[in-house]
Amino acid sequence: MRTALLGAGRIGRVHAAAIAADPRSTLAAVSDPMPDAARALAGEHGVPVRGIADVLADDGIDAILIASSTNTHADLIEAGVRAGKAVFCEKPIDLSLARARAVQAVAAGHDRPVMLGFNRRFDPNFAALKAALEAGEIGRGETLTITSHDPAPPPVEYIRVSGGLFRDMTIHDLDMAAHLFGMPETVTAQGACLVDPAIGEAGDIDTAMVLLAWADGRLAVIRNSRRAAYGYDQRVEVLGSAGMLAAENVTEDTVVRATAAGVSRAKPMHFFLERYARAYAIEWAAFVAAVLDGGKVPATVEDGVNALAMAEAANRSLAEGRTVAVGEV
Ligand SMILES: NC(=O)c1ccc[n+]([C@@H]2O[C@H](COP(=O)([O-])OP(=O)(O)OC[C@H]3O[C@@H](n4cnc5c(N)ncnc54)[C@H](O)[C@@H]3O)[C@@H](O)[C@H]2O)c1
Repeated sequence: MRTALLGAGRIGRVHAAAIAADPRSTLAAVSDPMPDAARALAGEHGVPVRGIADVLADDGIDAILIASSTNTHADLIEAGVRAGKAVFCEKPIDLSLARARAVQAVAAGHDRPVMLGFNRRFDPNFAALKAALEAGEIGRGETLTITSHDPAPPPVEYIRVSGGLFRDMTIHDLDMAAHLFGMPETVTAQGACLVDPAIGEAGDIDTAMVLLAWADGRLAVIRNSRRAAYGYDQRVEVLGSAGMLAAENVTEDTVVRATAAGVSRAKPMHFFLERYARAYAIEWAAFVAAVLDGGKVPATVEDGVNALAMAEAANRSLAEGRTVAVGEV
């Protein structure tokens, strides 16, 4: 599957490696308006730098992978669909829910796969937890706790264009909640700026707790912080009628150090590039399988719209100090 990569930034580099490593896909071109970034990544893979219009008009390109800045995703998905390409796009679809819904309408008429980059769905630990839940190993899942703490906050310039904590960071946790329990009915969010006052000055929060409730009474809590002194803290726990499932952090090594001073182990892997390295490769293989073998993509544009709707509900809940029904947004 000949793939053009649009966006040669942080996550673009990860995807370029995944495309090249998958035996069923080939990186065919790199596009990025920043010539240095495009040339460097294309050079590493021995492929040409090409313009987006050129790539879209080329019948020899089967798929595009959109790893560009968030504000370009909606237009590029639509352009890819109109050019008849299979499309993989990083989250989020857009910062505007209305714009994301417009993209959903365009993609609905497409006869080729369009997939969203909700990488955590493909983390082997979270996938095993979901499989155990669906197999009924803990009876009926009743409460869900998702912990997502970044090791350190990003620069405030990033925060200013990120769309805010809920649409930038919590969106992964909201998707995980919907992935495990289905769409919730209500969202109640509280947030604070405890990590970096500059984030507050930029109008955002860096710490949050989000409570989700389902119509049948099931509950979830999402705990977010932009700082964890011990590394990237990524855990999921489900309490069920007949037991509990917990996916713990993946640590840098598995050695337990027991001495007279106490018992310790290594920190969690530093950040998403390390922790989710396998997830990105499995995610890409799933997209390639959907394109080459047919079948439904495992993270759809609808999933992207749903996650954005929950993030929007969280924003409204925070602003208005009340519980918000997802159906309101
Ligand atoms: N799923 C994940 O784990 C994950 C992780 C990081 C980032 N992301 C998402 O990936 C996207 C990129 O994030 P990043 O951290 O790599 O950002 P980045 O700023 O490092 O890279 C973005 C690149 O896109 C390029 N670009 C801008 N407009 C473009 C266009 N029209 N066509 C092609 N390239 C264009 C920029 O020049 C830049 O090189 C964001 O939407 C972000 O939310 C997802």
